[in-house]
Amino acid sequence: MVNFREYKIGARFFGIALGGSMCITLFLPSFDFRNVNATEVALDKQLWAGWESGFNLDDPWLRGDHRPLRVTLKVDPKTGQPMEATTAYVYPAGTRMPNGVDHPDILGAMVQQLSLDKGRISEANESQGAVFLLSSEPQGDGTKQFYIEDASATKGWTPDAVLKAAGDENTYHAAYGKAIFVREGCWWCHTLLPEETQDWQVFGAPPMLGDFNGESPTAFGSDRKAPDILHVGSRNSSREWMMMHFFNPRLVQPYSIMPRFDYLWGKVDAKGQTIDYDKWRSEYNEYVEGQRVTPPEVPMYASNSDARALIDFVLSLK
Ligand code: HEC
Repeated sequence: MVNFREYKIGARFFGIALGGSMCITLFLPSFDFRNVNATEVALDKQLWAGWESGFNLDDPWLRGDHRPLRVTLKVDPKTGQPMEATTAYVYPAGTRMPNGVDHPDILGAMVQQLSLDKGRISEANESQGAVFLLSSEPQGDGTKQFYIEDASATKGWTPDAVLKAAGDENTYHAAYGKAIFVREGCWWCHTLLPEETQDWQVFGAPPMLGDFNGESPTAFGSDRKAPDILHVGSRNSSREWMMMHFFNPRLVQPYSIMPRFDYLWGKVDAKGQTIDYDKWRSEYNEYVEGQRVTPPEVPMYASNSDARALIDFVLSLK
């Protein structure tokens, strides 16, 4: 007769291991995501990025149309009177509302209640567009609880009036820039996720749990071949550096492995003049070979170019 003793022990251990891990999954206390309150970071991000979803029929090629805009207001859009610089999130008519406005329960109980009661977000209307503010309510313990305010409902601000009051120079296309970040595959090299290691000291604090409420897609990145850029706007806020670095990274980092993204400038520069890429590259090659002292100048991007949106996004990563 065959002795099954070892087999039986093994089978029991297997049962204990499998059953044990199922018990841990099913019965050990875990957290309920609906009780996690969205942080200030999450609310800000949701408001500037707008409704997002990885891949969907509304946005098949990550074109980035119908994206909200973030603006800095220095005058009141209704009265024209100067006011303290205020960030507003503009959803022109037809722009899909951010996830937290569509489904307030993902904001976490406290944020949801404030956003509905004080912020009146249920009155936001996609066909008319809306303007949001990131407002806060002081708490007993000295902290602030952030929530979303629908300024079209509470203050009667319309998207058109707010965009006009802000002007193009105070308008940021960060939402479209994020679509470009995803489309261009920046995440093959860069992460948006400093880890809880020495990363802290170099790239800044890791994100908190509530920072992701309503964000889709998150852009953590795959693995890292380049610096983490979750907080890059805090360590380098120079638009000029970004322009040079995106046009050709070798202008600022001689041995950079980052590809050039000069094509994001499109056909014309800020003055409407055709960008002569061939000429630029041959002059650049002369510079590399030591036949020129300085590299050719990087053209100023047009205000409706992809380059502008991408830089708006990168500099918004604070
Ligand atoms: C092949 C890998 C690679 C890809 C793809 C890439 N980068 Fe980079 N990036 C780098 C490296 C390496 C650096 C470090 C500086 C350098 O070498 O230029 C860098 C630096 C940067 C910096 C400055 C970081 C800092 O710490 O100051 C920014 C911002 C940046 N990249 C943004 C982007 C964006 C946006 C895209 C997509 C449009 C992109 N990168 C695509 C490799 C890459």
